[in-house]
Amino acid sequence: MWRRVASRTRRAVYRLATPLDRVLRRSKDLLLPPAHLRLYYYNSLAPEAFAQACRNTRAELMTRGLQPQHRVLDIGSGIGNLAIGLVDYLQGGYDGVEIHPEAVAWCQHHITPRHRAFRFHRADVESSAYNPSGRGSATMYRFPFPDRAFDFIVLASVFTHMFPEQVETYLQEIARLLAPEGKCLASFFLLNDETRAGVEAGQSFLSFQVNHASGLCRLHDAAVPEAAVAIEERFVLELLGRTGLRIAEARRGSWWRGTAHDQDLLTIVLNS
Ligand SMILES: C[S@@+](CC[C@H](N)C(=O)[O-])C[C@H]1O[C@@H](n2cnc3c(N)ncnc32)[C@H](O)[C@@H]1O
Repeated sequence: MWRRVASRTRRAVYRLATPLDRVLRRSKDLLLPPAHLRLYYYNSLAPEAFAQACRNTRAELMTRGLQPQHRVLDIGSGIGNLAIGLVDYLQGGYDGVEIHPEAVAWCQHHITPRHRAFRFHRADVESSAYNPSGRGSATMYRFPFPDRAFDFIVLASVFTHMFPEQVETYLQEIARLLAPEGKCLASFFLLNDETRAGVEAGQSFLSFQVNHASGLCRLHDAAVPEAAVAIEERFVLELLGRTGLRIAEARRGSWWRGTAHDQDLLTIVLNS
Protein backbone atom coordinates (compact mmCIF):
# COMPACT_ATOMS: atom_id res chain seq x y z
CA MET A 1 0.00 0.00 0.00
CA TRP A 2 2.62 2.55 1.11
CA ARG A 3 4.72 1.65 -1.93
CA ARG A 4 1.86 2.55 -4.26
CA VAL A 5 1.39 5.83 -2.43
CA ALA A 6 5.14 6.49 -2.61
CA SER A 7 5.11 5.77 -6.33
CA ARG A 8 2.18 8.19 -6.90
CA THR A 9 3.85 10.85 -4.76
CA ARG A 10 7.09 10.49 -6.69
CA ARG A 11 5.24 10.99 -9.98
CA ALA A 12 3.52 14.09 -8.58
CA VAL A 13 6.87 15.54 -7.48
CA TYR A 14 8.39 14.75 -10.90
CA ARG A 15 5.63 16.84 -12.49
CA LEU A 16 7.05 19.93 -10.78
CA ALA A 17 10.26 19.40 -12.71
CA THR A 18 8.75 20.32 -16.08
CA PRO A 19 7.70 23.95 -15.40
CA LEU A 20 10.94 24.53 -13.48
CA ASP A 21 12.99 23.06 -16.31
CA ARG A 22 11.17 25.24 -18.88
CA VAL A 23 12.07 28.36 -16.92
CA LEU A 24 15.68 27.38 -16.24
CA ARG A 25 16.67 25.75 -19.52
CA ARG A 26 17.52 28.09 -22.37
CA SER A 27 17.64 25.58 -25.22
CA LYS A 28 14.32 24.94 -26.92
CA ASP A 29 15.01 21.51 -28.34
CA LEU A 30 11.65 20.44 -29.79
CA LEU A 31 12.59 16.77 -29.62
CA LEU A 32 13.44 16.83 -25.93
CA PRO A 33 10.65 15.21 -23.85
CA PRO A 34 9.43 17.17 -20.80
CA ALA A 35 11.57 16.98 -17.70
CA HIS A 36 9.13 14.92 -15.59
CA LEU A 37 9.03 12.20 -18.27
CA ARG A 38 12.82 12.20 -18.59
CA LEU A 39 13.09 11.85 -14.81
CA TYR A 40 10.55 9.03 -14.81
CA TYR A 41 12.23 7.09 -17.61
CA TYR A 42 15.92 7.86 -17.12
CA ASN A 43 16.12 9.14 -13.58
CA SER A 44 17.87 12.28 -14.76
CA LEU A 45 16.99 15.84 -15.70
CA ALA A 46 20.08 16.27 -17.82
CA PRO A 47 19.25 16.51 -21.55
CA GLU A 48 22.51 14.65 -22.17
CA ALA A 49 21.21 11.58 -20.31
CA PHE A 50 18.31 11.41 -22.76
CA ALA A 51 20.60 12.04 -25.74
CA GLN A 52 22.78 9.17 -24.51
CA ALA A 53 19.73 6.86 -24.35
CA CYS A 54 18.93 7.84 -27.98
CA ARG A 55 22.49 7.07 -29.12
CA ASN A 56 22.75 3.79 -27.18
CA THR A 57 19.67 2.12 -28.68
CA ARG A 58 20.55 3.35 -32.17
CA ALA A 59 24.04 1.84 -31.76
CA GLU A 60 22.58 -1.54 -30.75
CA LEU A 61 20.65 -1.69 -34.04
CA MET A 62 23.45 -0.33 -36.21
CA THR A 63 25.91 -2.94 -34.94
CA ARG A 64 23.36 -5.63 -35.87
CA GLY A 65 23.04 -4.46 -39.45
CA LEU A 66 20.28 -1.82 -39.52
CA GLN A 67 20.03 -0.27 -43.01
CA PRO A 68 18.25 3.01 -43.93
CA GLN A 69 15.58 1.13 -45.93
CA HIS A 70 14.66 -1.20 -43.05
CA ARG A 71 11.27 -1.12 -41.31
CA VAL A 72 11.50 -0.91 -37.52
CA LEU A 73 8.93 -1.81 -34.86
CA ASP A 74 9.74 -0.46 -31.38
CA ILE A 75 7.55 -2.20 -28.79
CA GLY A 76 7.46 -0.16 -25.58
CA SER A 77 8.72 2.93 -27.38
CA GLY A 78 8.65 5.01 -24.18
CA ILE A 79 9.46 8.68 -24.73
CA GLY A 80 10.92 8.07 -28.17
CA ASN A 81 14.60 7.45 -27.50
CA LEU A 82 15.03 5.00 -30.38
CA ALA A 83 12.88 7.03 -32.77
CA ILE A 84 14.80 10.23 -32.07
CA GLY A 85 18.06 8.31 -32.36
CA LEU A 86 17.05 7.23 -35.87
CA VAL A 87 15.28 10.26 -37.37
CA ASP A 88 18.34 11.34 -39.36
CA TYR A 89 19.03 7.82 -40.66
CA LEU A 90 16.00 5.57 -41.11
CA GLN A 91 13.89 5.91 -44.26
CA GLY A 92 12.04 2.58 -44.38
CA GLY A 93 9.64 3.55 -41.60
CA TYR A 94 9.33 3.29 -37.84
CA ASP A 95 6.33 2.25 -35.76
CA GLY A 96 6.35 2.60 -31.98
CA VAL A 97 3.76 0.82 -29.82
CA GLU A 98 3.38 2.04 -26.27
CA ILE A 99 0.95 1.57 -23.36
CA HIS A 100 1.91 4.60 -21.24
CA PRO A 101 -0.63 7.23 -22.41
CA GLU A 102 1.43 10.32 -21.67
CA ALA A 103 4.60 8.95 -23.26
CA VAL A 104 2.90 7.91 -26.50
CA ALA A 105 0.95 11.20 -26.68
CA TRP A 106 4.18 13.19 -26.42
CA CYS A 107 5.75 11.16 -29.24
CA GLN A 108 2.64 11.50 -31.43
CA HIS A 109 2.51 15.27 -30.95
CA HIS A 110 6.23 16.05 -31.16
CA ILE A 111 7.97 13.46 -33.30
CA THR A 112 5.45 12.43 -36.00
CA PRO A 113 4.59 15.97 -37.21
CA ARG A 114 8.31 16.60 -37.83
CA HIS A 115 9.17 13.12 -39.14
CA ARG A 116 6.21 11.54 -40.94
CA ALA A 117 7.81 8.11 -41.35
CA PHE A 118 7.86 7.81 -37.54
CA ARG A 119 4.44 6.74 -36.25
CA PHE A 120 3.29 5.93 -32.71
CA HIS A 121 0.39 3.72 -31.67
CA ARG A 122 -1.23 3.51 -28.27
CA ALA A 123 -2.05 0.03 -26.98
CA ASP A 124 -4.48 0.24 -24.07
CA VAL A 125 -2.93 -2.71 -22.26
CA GLU A 126 -3.05 -2.88 -18.47
CA SER A 127 0.17 -2.69 -16.45
CA SER A 128 0.44 -1.82 -12.77
CA ALA A 129 3.65 0.07 -13.52
CA TYR A 130 2.84 1.96 -16.72
CA ASN A 131 -0.91 1.86 -17.41
CA PRO A 132 -2.87 0.87 -14.28
CA SER A 133 -6.21 1.86 -15.81
CA GLY A 134 -5.59 0.01 -19.09
CA ARG A 135 -8.60 -1.94 -20.34
CA GLY A 136 -7.00 -4.86 -22.18
CA SER A 137 -4.66 -7.67 -21.29
CA ALA A 138 -1.31 -8.08 -23.04
CA THR A 139 -2.28 -11.72 -23.61
CA MET A 140 -5.12 -10.56 -25.88
CA TYR A 141 -3.22 -7.85 -27.71
CA ARG A 142 -2.62 -8.14 -31.46
CA PHE A 143 -0.25 -5.68 -33.09
CA PRO A 144 -2.02 -3.72 -35.86
CA PHE A 145 0.39 -4.66 -38.66
CA PRO A 146 0.41 -7.26 -41.43
CA ASP A 147 2.53 -10.42 -41.32
CA ARG A 148 6.28 -10.02 -42.10
CA ALA A 149 6.06 -6.23 -41.86
CA PHE A 150 9.34 -5.53 -40.03
CA ASP A 151 13.08 -6.02 -40.51
CA PHE A 152 13.87 -5.06 -36.91
CA ILE A 153 11.69 -5.42 -33.83
CA VAL A 154 13.00 -3.91 -30.60
CA LEU A 155 11.89 -4.44 -27.01
CA ALA A 156 14.35 -2.47 -24.88
CA SER A 157 13.53 -3.05 -21.22
CA VAL A 158 9.96 -4.17 -21.96
CA PHE A 159 9.89 -7.94 -21.30
CA THR A 160 11.44 -6.92 -17.96
CA HIS A 161 7.96 -5.52 -17.12
CA MET A 162 5.83 -8.41 -18.35
CA PHE A 163 4.60 -11.76 -17.02
CA PRO A 164 5.44 -15.08 -18.70
CA GLU A 165 2.08 -15.59 -20.44
CA GLN A 166 2.26 -12.04 -21.80
CA VAL A 167 5.78 -12.63 -23.10
CA GLU A 168 4.42 -15.72 -24.86
CA THR A 169 1.73 -13.70 -26.68
CA TYR A 170 4.24 -11.05 -27.77
CA LEU A 171 6.70 -13.69 -29.03
CA GLN A 172 3.92 -15.26 -31.11
CA GLU A 173 3.23 -11.84 -32.58
CA ILE A 174 6.93 -11.20 -33.18
CA ALA A 175 7.19 -14.51 -35.09
CA ARG A 176 4.28 -13.32 -37.26
CA LEU A 177 5.62 -9.80 -37.82
CA LEU A 178 9.30 -10.49 -38.55
CA ALA A 179 10.44 -10.46 -42.18
CA PRO A 180 12.24 -13.68 -43.20
CA GLU A 181 15.72 -12.20 -42.59
CA GLY A 182 14.48 -9.95 -39.77
CA LYS A 183 15.94 -9.57 -36.28
CA CYS A 184 14.32 -8.97 -32.93
CA LEU A 185 16.38 -7.37 -30.16
CA ALA A 186 14.90 -8.00 -26.75
CA SER A 187 16.29 -7.45 -23.28
CA PHE A 188 15.44 -9.58 -20.24
CA PHE A 189 16.45 -10.32 -16.69
CA LEU A 190 17.06 -14.03 -17.36
CA LEU A 191 17.05 -16.41 -14.40
CA ASN A 192 19.37 -19.41 -14.66
CA ASP A 193 21.44 -21.22 -12.03
CA GLU A 194 24.13 -18.53 -12.00
CA THR A 195 21.88 -15.46 -11.98
CA ARG A 196 19.40 -17.03 -9.54
CA ALA A 197 22.26 -17.62 -7.10
CA GLY A 198 23.21 -13.93 -7.34
CA VAL A 199 19.60 -12.91 -6.73
CA GLU A 200 19.24 -15.26 -3.77
CA ALA A 201 22.48 -13.95 -2.29
CA GLY A 202 21.02 -10.42 -2.44
CA GLN A 203 23.56 -9.19 -5.02
CA SER A 204 21.10 -8.21 -7.75
CA PHE A 205 20.59 -4.48 -8.41
CA LEU A 206 16.84 -5.05 -8.02
CA SER A 207 15.90 -7.44 -5.25
CA PHE A 208 13.64 -9.95 -7.13
CA GLN A 209 12.87 -11.57 -3.78
CA VAL A 210 9.19 -12.22 -4.60
CA ASN A 211 8.46 -15.59 -6.20
CA HIS A 212 5.54 -15.39 -8.63
CA ALA A 213 2.82 -18.04 -8.32
CA SER A 214 3.60 -19.33 -11.84
CA GLY A 215 7.06 -20.44 -10.68
CA LEU A 216 8.33 -18.89 -13.91
CA CYS A 217 9.41 -15.47 -12.73
CA ARG A 218 10.41 -13.35 -9.73
CA LEU A 219 9.24 -9.83 -8.95
CA HIS A 220 11.05 -6.89 -7.45
CA ASP A 221 7.96 -5.43 -5.80
CA ALA A 222 4.79 -7.38 -5.00
CA ALA A 223 2.80 -4.13 -4.67
CA VAL A 224 3.63 -3.06 -8.25
CA PRO A 225 4.20 -6.45 -9.89
CA GLU A 226 5.16 -5.11 -13.34
CA ALA A 227 7.74 -2.71 -11.83
CA ALA A 228 10.41 -5.32 -12.66
CA VAL A 229 10.16 -8.98 -13.63
CA ALA A 230 12.99 -11.53 -13.91
CA ILE A 231 11.98 -14.56 -15.97
CA GLU A 232 13.23 -18.15 -16.09
CA GLU A 233 15.58 -18.59 -19.04
CA ARG A 234 14.50 -22.20 -19.63
CA PHE A 235 10.93 -20.94 -20.09
CA VAL A 236 12.03 -18.30 -22.61
CA LEU A 237 14.00 -20.93 -24.56
CA GLU A 238 10.97 -23.23 -24.59
CA LEU A 239 8.75 -20.36 -25.77
CA LEU A 240 11.15 -19.45 -28.56
CA GLY A 241 11.12 -23.07 -29.74
CA ARG A 242 7.33 -23.19 -29.59
CA THR A 243 6.88 -19.95 -31.53
CA GLY A 244 9.34 -20.78 -34.32
CA LEU A 245 12.08 -18.43 -33.11
CA ARG A 246 15.67 -18.94 -31.98
CA ILE A 247 18.50 -16.99 -30.40
CA ALA A 248 21.11 -15.81 -32.92
CA GLU A 249 23.22 -13.98 -30.33
CA ALA A 250 23.11 -13.41 -26.57
CA ARG A 251 24.91 -10.67 -24.65
CA ARG A 252 24.79 -11.50 -20.97
CA GLY A 253 24.24 -8.66 -18.52
CA SER A 254 25.52 -8.47 -14.97
CA TRP A 255 22.34 -7.08 -13.35
CA TRP A 256 22.30 -10.13 -11.05
CA ARG A 257 25.62 -9.22 -9.48
CA GLY A 258 24.74 -5.60 -8.92
CA THR A 259 25.35 -3.68 -12.15
CA ALA A 260 22.40 -1.31 -12.51
CA HIS A 261 20.28 -1.75 -15.64
CA ASP A 262 22.74 -4.19 -17.29
CA GLN A 263 20.17 -6.58 -18.77
CA ASP A 264 20.58 -9.70 -20.91
CA LEU A 265 20.18 -8.76 -24.57
CA LEU A 266 19.02 -11.42 -27.03
CA THR A 267 19.06 -11.17 -30.81
CA ILE A 268 16.19 -13.40 -31.93
CA VAL A 269 15.50 -14.61 -35.48
CA LEU A 270 13.02 -16.89 -37.24
CA ASN A 271 13.99 -20.53 -36.96
CA SER A 272 13.85 -21.42 -40.63
C1 LIG B 1 11.76 0.84 -18.96
S1 LIG B 1 10.70 1.53 -20.15
C2 LIG B 1 11.70 1.41 -21.62
C3 LIG B 1 11.32 2.42 -22.66
C4 LIG B 1 12.21 2.42 -23.90
N1 LIG B 1 12.08 1.18 -24.63
C5 LIG B 1 13.65 2.66 -23.52
O1 LIG B 1 14.50 1.85 -23.90
O2 LIG B 1 13.93 3.67 -22.87
C6 LIG B 1 9.51 0.25 -20.42
C7 LIG B 1 8.47 0.65 -21.44
O3 LIG B 1 7.71 -0.51 -21.81
C8 LIG B 1 6.36 -0.14 -21.89
N2 LIG B 1 5.56 -1.35 -21.70
C9 LIG B 1 5.37 -2.05 -20.55
N3 LIG B 1 4.55 -3.10 -20.77
C10 LIG B 1 4.24 -3.07 -22.09
C11 LIG B 1 3.43 -3.87 -22.94
N4 LIG B 1 2.76 -4.92 -22.46
N5 LIG B 1 3.34 -3.55 -24.24
C12 LIG B 1 4.01 -2.47 -24.74
N6 LIG B 1 4.77 -1.67 -23.99
C13 LIG B 1 4.89 -1.96 -22.69
C14 LIG B 1 6.19 0.88 -20.78
O4 LIG B 1 5.04 1.66 -20.93
C15 LIG B 1 7.48 1.66 -20.90
O5 LIG B 1 7.39 2.72 -21.79
